[in-house]
Amino acid sequence: MNVLVTGGLGYIGSHAVLCLLKSGFDVTIADNLSNCDISVHKRLEELSDKPIKLYTTDVRASLSKIFEEDKIDAVIHFAALKAVGESIQKPLEYYDNNVYGAINLLETMSHYGVKSFVFSSSAVVYGDSGLPYREDAPVSAATNPYGQTKIMIENILQDLYRADNSWHIAILRYFNPIGAHESGKIGENPVGIPNNLMPYVAKVASGELKELSVFGGDYSTPDGTGIRDYIHVCDLAEGHIAALNYIANKTGAHTWNLGTGKGYSVLEIVNTFINITGVQLPYKVVARRAGDVPVSYCDPSKAQHELGWQATRTLTDMVKDTWHWERARTADERL
Ligand code: NAD
Ligand code: UFG
Repeated sequence: MNVLVTGGLGYIGSHAVLCLLKSGFDVTIADNLSNCDISVHKRLEELSDKPIKLYTTDVRASLSKIFEEDKIDAVIHFAALKAVGESIQKPLEYYDNNVYGAINLLETMSHYGVKSFVFSSSAVVYGDSGLPYREDAPVSAATNPYGQTKIMIENILQDLYRADNSWHIAILRYFNPIGAHESGKIGENPVGIPNNLMPYVAKVASGELKELSVFGGDYSTPDGTGIRDYIHVCDLAEGHIAALNYIANKTGAHTWNLGTGKGYSVLEIVNTFINITGVQLPYKVVARRAGDVPVSYCDPSKAQHELGWQATRTLTDMVKDTWHWERARTADERL
């Protein structure tokens, strides 16, 4: 079975590619290189010991060549812009890239009769629903264009299945992916100053950034800082294999949370990082970040029961693998 992975050189996509190859799938990647380094392609080939076909293309462009040259059986669609703050500044870019990109891809798939689709959605769709977040909670209006694009695409996928019930669709709502592949060869390396907690922490620990700002110390949580459901990126990647296997025999537009069900606060993350790595991690508590919810964690039981998948890696694994990757990456950059 050959899987087209859009955004396959990005953070989550690259880990999913390795996982797919390890599980016996063939992979074709399409990526416009807007938020990744081309060297990831070579690293994936080295780690898997297999050639991997790469199309350097935008998902908004004509994708016919891919479907004509390669026999594609299913698509996992990671390609998107993902920075919440930037989406508020540049809404048109986000709607164009994310929503139009998905529509163009789905139209092409439909044209070539490929009807198995796995979509990267997000916990952002839950807004202020009651905790833990369950898949049957009403999806609220997001407070930013990035979140809106995820809700819009989820709705498009539900409508698509209603119109043509031969589609096999998996909507995966990721919680907070962190960590890196155990090899230390691939991981998250955002362009510019990181928006997300873990890459920021890693860059403070390595000395690349001076100090972490902890956004908010006055939430009604045990230590006053925000709580999130952090999941190891390799557990998340494995969730995609489980979803692909599930939809192989079942039509529908199915939704699953991919998280651990357990929340950690910002200070718990910082202190675990310090304890495991022994490095200095200067931080100061500052004002809350606009748009942040105090607490976010999921009920992961639907994925456990239906997909037979659950996250197995611990916070210690997440921190160790982040630090291994950070040190390997910075050592490479010094060469
Ligand atoms: P990423 O930016 O590392 O990877 C996205 C990849 O897609 C990049 O390699 C980029 O070059 C490519 N890309 C972007 N727009 C494209 C386009 N129009 N055409 C072709 N390629 C394009 O992001 P990630 O963290 O790996 O996220 C992957 C997906 O998961 C995204 O859809 C994101 O919204 C979603 N998601 C991420 C998180 C998270 O915390 N990282 C959480 C929830 C959901
Ligand atoms: N935080 C800090 N300092 C930082 C960065 C983050 O204190 O420099 C805090 C935040 O306030 C929050 C927690 O760390 O309490 C996690 O923040 P992230 O930015 O790492 O993650 P978010 O939960 O805000 O959002 C992420 C992605 C979204 C996605 C969401 C759910 O950025 O795209 O997870 O999957 F929708």
